[in-house]
Amino acid sequence: MDFDEDAARWIEAVYQTPDVTAQRNAVLNSLQLVPGETALDIGVGPGLLARDMAAIVGKTGACHGIDLSAPMIAMTQNRCVDMDWARFEVADATALPFDDATIDAATSTQVYEYVEDMPLALKELFRVLKPGGRAVILDTDYDSLVLHTEHPERMARVMTAWDDHFVHRSLPQFLAPMLRDAGFTIRQRDAIPMFNPEFHRNTFSFGIIKGIADFAIGRNGISEDEANAWYAEQKALGAEGRYFFSINRYLFLVTKP
Ligand SMILES: C[S@@+](CC[C@H](N)C(=O)[O-])C[C@H]1O[C@@H](n2cnc3c(N)ncnc32)[C@H](O)[C@@H]1O
Repeated sequence: MDFDEDAARWIEAVYQTPDVTAQRNAVLNSLQLVPGETALDIGVGPGLLARDMAAIVGKTGACHGIDLSAPMIAMTQNRCVDMDWARFEVADATALPFDDATIDAATSTQVYEYVEDMPLALKELFRVLKPGGRAVILDTDYDSLVLHTEHPERMARVMTAWDDHFVHRSLPQFLAPMLRDAGFTIRQRDAIPMFNPEFHRNTFSFGIIKGIADFAIGRNGISEDEANAWYAEQKALGAEGRYFFSINRYLFLVTKP
């Protein structure tokens, strides 16, 4: 997926819904940052989590963030312009621009599912953490998606098209052994459901459904008319009180021994 300016604005809107705000609060609750710590957010995206992290560590600490996308970094720098202890730069999760053992606590939420070389990304995360340092990793498992339809064949083809937007469609199922191989100790695992039984503007799925429809056009044989029909069905189900969307994100809290 190309995380350009349009994608940055779309993700910023979806990630300000109460569903994703609750997810960020769960991440922060697990990470237990304290003032004065050095924090790192890998793949900051629109910078909503990074800003929360910077606010907690405060000016006696430091908050770093990286992202492959220049528009995402620009959005995050703008969001944190009043925090001179928060620094953001374009970089890859597989080549972190930080010295060994310099970070107290790190996050990477909804990022590793886009990273091809996960062993290298986890090796980098391990390298930059201080001994005793901790990290929260959160990703979606698309095998957990339940989205009601009366056109299952079209639904299957649209979702196969959507699979193109990430590298790993079910990373959480495979993450625990990867984390152990990288040297981490797993401290906590939680499912974070995104459950929307209504098709309402201020929900996670309202924005995601539109993003899936737009992304599917021209992929896996999906025409614009077909993508629009797929979207229209979800909207109609919503109007009729028959909409049902549920998907799980999974949170892993790990420490470096
Ligand atoms: C869905 S957004 C999540 C943003 C943010 N972590 C959050 O949860 O709000 C995914 C982000 O991962 C970034 N990303 C993808 N692959 C990356 C990589 N290899 N290194 C750094 N960032 C990456 C994208 O540019 C995008 O900003």
